Amino acid sequence: MAAQINPSILSADFARLADEARAVDGADWLHVDVMDNHFVPNLTLGVPVVESLARATDTPLDCHLMIEDPDRWAPQYVEAGAGSVTFHVEAAAAPVRLAREIRAKGARAAMALKPATAIEPYEELLPELDMVLIMTVEPGFGGQSFLDLTLPKIRRTRELIGRHGLDLWLQVDGGVSAATIERCAEAGADVFVAGSAVYGAEDPAEAVRSLRDSARK
Ligand code: DX5
Ligand code: ZN
Repeated sequence: MAAQINPSILSADFARLADEARAVDGADWLHVDVMDNHFVPNLTLGVPVVESLARATDTPLDCHLMIEDPDRWAPQYVEAGAGSVTFHVEAAAAPVRLAREIRAKGARAAMALKPATAIEPYEELLPELDMVLIMTVEPGFGGQSFLDLTLPKIRRTRELIGRHGLDLWLQVDGGVSAATIERCAEAGADVFVAGSAVYGAEDPAEAVRSLRDSARK
């Protein structure tokens, strides 16, 4: 699969979300960070905002749920219009059941791992998923520095996906920029979330194109 760039609206102006979503027309997906002040020490937005965003843009929404009890809430994000819903495996009570429910409702299902969470215990879950998200910073805030210590886990996850013969996307999120994207791609990632590197740029749409080019190198 060609590299995908998913701008994160966490770094956008929340008072102008519709315009900010349209500023990255041409992006593959729009990454929407949902935080609940419990799973992470920050609070962003919920189902009503996702519903409005889904109406405001043609770019499909990639919802990253950094919340407790995703088993209860994740299905509502599919109903709100998300094309992909990612839950944190550290927070999910029944990840297989949850992934199946997300898929049954018509969205892609993804599992996220914090930097200190190993992939090996979750190997058996891979066939239930459409994507794995390896966090490359501690979840909670945009603009943090990329953690190189996550690179071996990206490689390892790509290896496991290959060993099972699966067609899973491998997403990285946190500190992805022109300076770090090639390292991630080389380790096996093919979906790249970028917040500050896109919305902090003078021309966000151009930043998306240039990140996509760098990921191909
Ligand atoms: C952080 C979020 C990220 C964040 C990335 O917890 O999950 O999606 O927006 O921001 P940057 O690209 O600035 O690190
Ligand atoms: Zn995210």
